[in-house]
Amino acid sequence: MDAATFDFPTSVSRSTDLSASAGDSRTGHHVFTPLTPVEVERGRAVFATEWHLAVAAADSPQPSPHPDARELEAMELLRRPVARATCAAVLTDLDTPTRDEVADLVLAWIDALAPVISSPRAPRRWSRVRRAEHRSRIALEAALGEVLDDCGITDSPAIVATMLAAGIQVPIAAGSWLLVHLAARPDGPVDPDHAVWEALRVSPPTWLTARVTTAPVEVAGQQLAAGAVVLVSPLLLGRRADLAPDTPAALADFCPERWARKDVRPGAWLPFGAGAHACPGRTLGLALLREVAHWASRHHLALTSSVTIDQSRGILPTPARITAMPREEVER
Ligand code: HEM
Repeated sequence: MDAATFDFPTSVSRSTDLSASAGDSRTGHHVFTPLTPVEVERGRAVFATEWHLAVAAADSPQPSPHPDARELEAMELLRRPVARATCAAVLTDLDTPTRDEVADLVLAWIDALAPVISSPRAPRRWSRVRRAEHRSRIALEAALGEVLDDCGITDSPAIVATMLAAGIQVPIAAGSWLLVHLAARPDGPVDPDHAVWEALRVSPPTWLTARVTTAPVEVAGQQLAAGAVVLVSPLLLGRRADLAPDTPAALADFCPERWARKDVRPGAWLPFGAGAHACPGRTLGLALLREVAHWASRHHLALTSSVTIDQSRGILPTPARITAMPREEVER
């Protein structure tokens, strides 16, 4: 929570300070303003429309006993709806075609960032991956430079690009995990809200956050020198029996029903971080995930291949292939 003593270790692109800011907080990192309820509602509404369009467009012949079952790749399906929704929330007052163009540019930047972030050593300045990332970031910032004034946004293109990338990449991963977990469990009714929190507990996309101490400080009885790396893991915190209701062994399982209890509060494992740098898009993230969970509750979902974990940008399920059949067709 103490942003002055626990600083960000590096920028997301591992080259420059993407926040492009110095002085908004003591550590020189930009402090993002949380989205307003009106912005969140705009994003949610765009997502609801785009999600149904994406599902309908994914209609194709399937290797399934039921001719109406569709095989879907959750992450592919979520990309555009999430990108357009987050752009709609952040870039208010922008016409839809321009907004959708920006959404595609953010997706291109996220894709180009992945090999930069995931490479064991920071890639060299003129390496192929670094140049591709640079090109896509410049294209996005140029497009934002032309529209931010019209949206009444005074933040720099670099800051808005960071907000959009964080607000698109992470909900895509969270939505994919949600669908994969729901598809993997035995079919049956599930409370959409409980499912959302449980997916964020078992597979928080930002499974590890890092800070560097700026001064000597004591953490949990340990004396740390200035410059120490401190890692906080929402994934591991979510396995602690004092932060989620169950025994540590049972907490490995995806079990939305555990949140039916009224005496426990979901979120204590910090899926959205905490303090000055907690997630400013938390309510939008939850709203998008609820839309996905409500859609899922009206379908019979099944996994069609086993899932592995892609760690190139947080944690992502891959492949996230599921079939979805409307419930009334299953029951016919
Ligand atoms: C389910 C969806 C989401 C999850 C699980 C999530 C999770 C997180 C977490 C854990 C952090 C803190 C990282 C740290 O402490 O180092 C964070 C930061 C951030 N998130 Fe989200 N997020 C989500 C959705 C969004 C959305 C929709 C937006 C924007 C519209 C957004 C924008 C940001 C930004 C800009 C930061 C950086 C804040 C700062 O450094 O001050 N996130 N998010």
